[in-house]
Amino acid sequence: MIHTRVIVVKNPDEMGKAAADLFETAIAAKPACVIGLATGSTPLPLYRELIAREKAGKIDFSRVRSANLDEYKGLAPDHPQSYRKFMQENLFDHISIKPENTIVPLGLAEDIPAMCQAYEDQIEDWGGVDLQLLGIGHDGHIGFNEPEDTFPGMTHEVKLTDMTIDANKRFFDSIDDVPKAAVTMGIGTIMAAKKIVMVVTGADKKEILRKTFWGPVDPQVPSSILQFHPDVTLICDEAAYPF
Ligand code: F6R
Repeated sequence: MIHTRVIVVKNPDEMGKAAADLFETAIAAKPACVIGLATGSTPLPLYRELIAREKAGKIDFSRVRSANLDEYKGLAPDHPQSYRKFMQENLFDHISIKPENTIVPLGLAEDIPAMCQAYEDQIEDWGGVDLQLLGIGHDGHIGFNEPEDTFPGMTHEVKLTDMTIDANKRFFDSIDDVPKAAVTMGIGTIMAAKKIVMVVTGADKKEILRKTFWGPVDPQVPSSILQFHPDVTLICDEAAYPF
């Protein structure tokens, strides 16, 4: 592990504050900055903190642009389990970010490859992602980039693994309702971000966190590619820290 800064905090709330500090700094330095966002349980304390900080006048999201990592294939933006809906409910509806300045891959697109290319083009038109937020799956997935023989490049469609479908069934009525495919920024898209902050909490993530930053770089552990990024900050709680 060469470049990664590691911040170990007591609990998820402290993780939220430490990660919010990075967003506050990035937005103060560049009010129209481009942030990459993630869904899942881990970022929720961060999103709560960002909402509180804008209400307290410490952050201004009115010029910020955001691009989300991923979306389920086949879910409409207003589907209760879509990632677009998640972002609206947990962040966007509570801050001053302009709707037209938020993008999430379109799970319902008829031509998925064309939509993926348009997604990449939009990020490029914005000047690239300044600060990318990542969580991590138990198998080392980032976005929906699952273990594979090679690191996938840009935004693309993926088939979800049984492990990911199982982990995500908690959000659906039954496992059969969990979509079997998704659209995700690729490893190349993620690695092109100028800065990356990964947030990890809970003892169940300890082993994959160790493999990610303290094991070999291997596409079977997609997150391990982050060892090659020049500006990664890992914020984890004591339960997740492997040492
Ligand atoms: C979601 C995403 C995923 C999650 C990962 C961990 O946008 O990118 O890679 O970060 O599945 O999810 P949680 O935080 O729910 O454990």
